[in-house]
Amino acid sequence: MCQSQYKDMNKVTIIGAGMVGSSIAYSLVLKDTTEQVAIIDLNEKLARAQVMDLQHAAAFSGKTVVKVGSYEDCADSAITIVTCGAAQKDGQTRLDLVKQNTAIIKEIVPQIFAQNPDSIVLMVTNPVDVLTYVAQSLFPEHKNQIIGSGTVLDSARLRHLLGEELAIDPRSIHAYIVGEHGDSELPLWSAATIGGVKLGMPHVGSGICENLSDQRKKELFDAARNAAYAIIEGKQATYHGIGAAAEQIARAILYDKRTVLPVSHAMEGDHGLQDVCLSMPAVVGRGGVVGRLCADITDAEREQLQMSAQTLRTCIDKVL
Ligand SMILES: NC(=O)c1ccc[n+]([C@@H]2O[C@H](COP(=O)([O-])OP(=O)(O)OC[C@H]3O[C@@H](n4cnc5c(N)ncnc54)[C@H](O)[C@@H]3O)[C@@H](O)[C@H]2O)c1
Repeated sequence: MCQSQYKDMNKVTIIGAGMVGSSIAYSLVLKDTTEQVAIIDLNEKLARAQVMDLQHAAAFSGKTVVKVGSYEDCADSAITIVTCGAAQKDGQTRLDLVKQNTAIIKEIVPQIFAQNPDSIVLMVTNPVDVLTYVAQSLFPEHKNQIIGSGTVLDSARLRHLLGEELAIDPRSIHAYIVGEHGDSELPLWSAATIGGVKLGMPHVGSGICENLSDQRKKELFDAARNAAYAIIEGKQATYHGIGAAAEQIARAILYDKRTVLPVSHAMEGDHGLQDVCLSMPAVVGRGGVVGRLCADITDAEREQLQMSAQTLRTCIDKVL
């Protein structure tokens, strides 16, 4: 499908005008991804101020209309992005936010679908996997339309670190962090490649990939997994990275790009996982998750993935 076919039906509503919601809006505006962005927040003064600031940015980049919104804006929005709720504070894990943010999600997701049963709901609020599951359990008929940003950001962090280490453009690196968007996540090294060459495997060539030892891979993964803690310690919140990540997910949906992204979605038996939402690479298009990929992973990776799922399941059981 060509991009112009979706031109008149690509409005995005963002709920939450805080650091994350405004950064996602900023990415959408700068990349001219959508015709219109509506922003909703309980704090109307904040929403108004963010909208004014974004309108000024839009004057440099394209013709995106940015406005203060209400739930009625969901009615003609292709995507509603949920960013409202409590954010991690220094020393908190994402799972610590679960009770407070579950209550918010239970209140707002019905309002979205009441306006527009066809909307794609992109969950960004943490703990994103648990909240994606909570929203799906409220609306099982819309399961594929409800996805979480998952480990799209975490995987970008890993690709950035690998790119710096190996002096390769991160966009040429295929490497995924999967599982929980949080402490139990894991890297799928068995599926990580550059130019078709597996990372850390001996091969004939320039020596770029085989120079990465297991120890170094572990250090790079630890740095990617712990990046949010380091950023929050330094500036209280992370937002530019998720702003760019959510824009990429929104673009895949709005223009039916069928991009492979590690978004959080319902597991349906792959690798022995079900009744949980977590990230594995999936095909993302106009209908949300429009295809599933079952990577050929090692037994050790499968075991770790199952432990990550168990961590999430335990958290889900506390709130449902
Ligand atoms: N998924 C990811 O990769 C990722 C990355 C970074 C942050 N986050 C998460 O995003 C969320 C937002 O973070 P932030 O830094 O923007 O927080 P923030 O405190 O800056 O903004 C949250 C906003 O939500 C609003 N809000 C709260 N309840 C609301 C409701 N019922 N309806 C409408 N608005 C409401 C608040 O007024 C506030 O403006 C957090 O849960 C954070 O952990 C996720």
